[in-house]
Amino acid sequence: TKPLSVGVAGLGTVGAGVLTLLRDNAATVAARAGRPIAVTAVSARDRMRDRGVSIAGLRWYDDAAALANDPGVDVVVETIGGTEGPAADLVRAALAAGKPVVTANKALLAIHGAELAATAEAKGVALCFEAAVAGGIPAIKAVREGLAANDLTRVMGILNGTCNYILTQMRERGIEFAQALSEAQKLGYAEADPSFDVDGIDAAHKLAILAALAFGRPVDFAGVHVEGIRSISALDIKLAEELGYRIKLLGIARRTEAGIETRMHPCMVPVSHPIARVDGVFNAVVAEGDFVGRVVLEGRGAGAGPTASAVVADLIDIARGRTTPVWGVASAALSHAPSLPMSQR
Ligand code: NDP
Ligand code: HSE
Repeated sequence: TKPLSVGVAGLGTVGAGVLTLLRDNAATVAARAGRPIAVTAVSARDRMRDRGVSIAGLRWYDDAAALANDPGVDVVVETIGGTEGPAADLVRAALAAGKPVVTANKALLAIHGAELAATAEAKGVALCFEAAVAGGIPAIKAVREGLAANDLTRVMGILNGTCNYILTQMRERGIEFAQALSEAQKLGYAEADPSFDVDGIDAAHKLAILAALAFGRPVDFAGVHVEGIRSISALDIKLAEELGYRIKLLGIARRTEAGIETRMHPCMVPVSHPIARVDGVFNAVVAEGDFVGRVVLEGRGAGAGPTASAVVADLIDIARGRTTPVWGVASAALSHAPSLPMSQR
């Protein structure tokens, strides 16, 4: 059978992880996909950089967007990052060329998701982003497909592995914020600009995407109230612990009479609550539906392996011809429930 030919743009933590997974699990992936999945073209900035996985024999592009027009590439994987510039140019070029796109880029989707979804739907091609929310947790499929029969009232969770790693290390080892952040960066968890992590923006991007899926509405990042963890000290964490609480950066999106409320901020969580015990790079996604009740998913929210797992799951869907409308409902059917103004929260 003809392999699915993939172009990967961005060969850092995630992109190199995708190449490694496709190399190491080639037989499993081919069996699940019904045909081999082969990377044939790549793009990054530095052609000579050692990425821990071979790119010998793959077509190389200095200009990521040009990879979209490689006639030998069936599907484009975008693992560059950023809301403008090469990542956005590549995704737009691929969709315009009628090629399916898999992206791990939550920032791009939170800002330009509605436009990109409309293009993907107009072109009839898949735009897949399982890796964009909660790393290895299949949160997108769970909320969009697994819970599709429910009216969802709330989605919430721990959505940033870097922040949860930092808060955990500060509590368990008593180390200061800067040291814990530096460790998270070395482990490949943090964004290129880690202020996106520690200021709550990255988690808010993910919350905006989850809320769009859960409530069938266009993604609305501007409507999310955002606070990060920069001002939390080891002493705050110690005092909270003495009172029976753990400090977690939580994102909460809920349906109210007046509209959809979306907020991201540090919370005091009682130690008896399951979310309080989600530690380190782990994330948790909690969804509440009218028929299913509460569903809790937990797993690694960042890092090469978990994120590659989600990217390749999307590639397998594409290889199988399973392409779900981007937000799970036709654009015309989106209910435009407004975001709740800040003054009403
Ligand atoms: P890295 O910084 O590790 O990698 C970014 C890659 O993009 C590098 O290989 C870099 O090239 C390449 N790149 C940068 N500019 C260009 C350009 N103009 N043209 C082509 N390639 C370019 O990032 P991550 O792998 O950590 O993250 C990638 C994406 O995945 C981001 O959107 C991030 O938010 C998302 N993500 C990350 C997760 C993680 O755990 N790290 C988890 C889930 C999502 P070079 O190597 O040559 O410098
Ligand atoms: N920087 C992100 C995090 C990567 O720490 O959660 C995963 O999206």
